[in-house]
Amino acid sequence: MKWQELYSRRNKVSLVRENGHAIVRKQFIDDEGYEKEMSVYEILDGSTVAHPRVLKGYADNCMYFEYLDAPTVCDLLEQAEAGQIDELVVRTAYEKMVDWLLAFNRLTHLSMGDVNARNFLFDGHTLYGIDFESTCAVGPLEVDIGQALAFLMSYYPEDSLIKHRLYDSTSHYATTRHHLDQARIEDSYIRERQILTDRRQHLKKGRTSTGNENPLGGIQGGKAGINC
Ligand SMILES: Nc1ncnc2c1ncn2[C@@H]1O[C@H](COP(=O)(O)OP(=O)(O)OP(=O)(O)O)[C@@H](O)[C@H]1O
Ligand SMILES: [Mg+2]
Repeated sequence: MKWQELYSRRNKVSLVRENGHAIVRKQFIDDEGYEKEMSVYEILDGSTVAHPRVLKGYADNCMYFEYLDAPTVCDLLEQAEAGQIDELVVRTAYEKMVDWLLAFNRLTHLSMGDVNARNFLFDGHTLYGIDFESTCAVGPLEVDIGQALAFLMSYYPEDSLIKHRLYDSTSHYATTRHHLDQARIEDSYIRERQILTDRRQHLKKGRTSTGNENPLGGIQGGKAGINC
């Protein structure tokens, strides 16, 4: 029984109730995404790389997951911007994201490909990764970190003071704790930021020409006010 739609740009994701338990149903729009995500979850199964348990997968491009009762890192960022939670929580979440990406790389030999803050959930202790449709051949980890930072700085309000501090603490953590290369992170950040800016302008133009002013369209998030 469908209960609540969860925000998704690409697929249909909803919270459903089964035998009194909340579970997540993800209906993929194509075979390719479904097969890729299934294959990554098979590698993650039983590993220490935190992820939701797969409950079942169906041939009709649908997967079911354990529901994780935790906010996304994007939700946390939004709460920190509104002064509702301590910024330190988001700082910890981003540091754990760096650890998670490194562990994911080592286990799967893949790069996550879509390091959007909505693809990570943090319960205050454990950071979980979800959404593996965009995984691709592994490149240097600095590329993923640079992309995560480009997403971070692009969420509304763009380039805020909090975001600058999070940028600095995350890249400091990646370079000191994991000895990643600062210049490579910055190169990736600049490249990914330009891609996001171009995509946003392209979407804006599309909206103007179609007259569609839906504030939640395109790469803007399902929650008013933040571009996640
Ligand atoms: N197991 C889960 N537990 C709790 N929430 C979840 C779970 N899986 C997904 N969600 C929520 O649903 C949203 C969409 O899930 P997911 O990213 O897998 O779908 P998607 O179609 O790939 O979305 P997008 O294209 O927007 O990245 C997530 O951002 C998260 O808020
Ligand atoms: Mg997603």
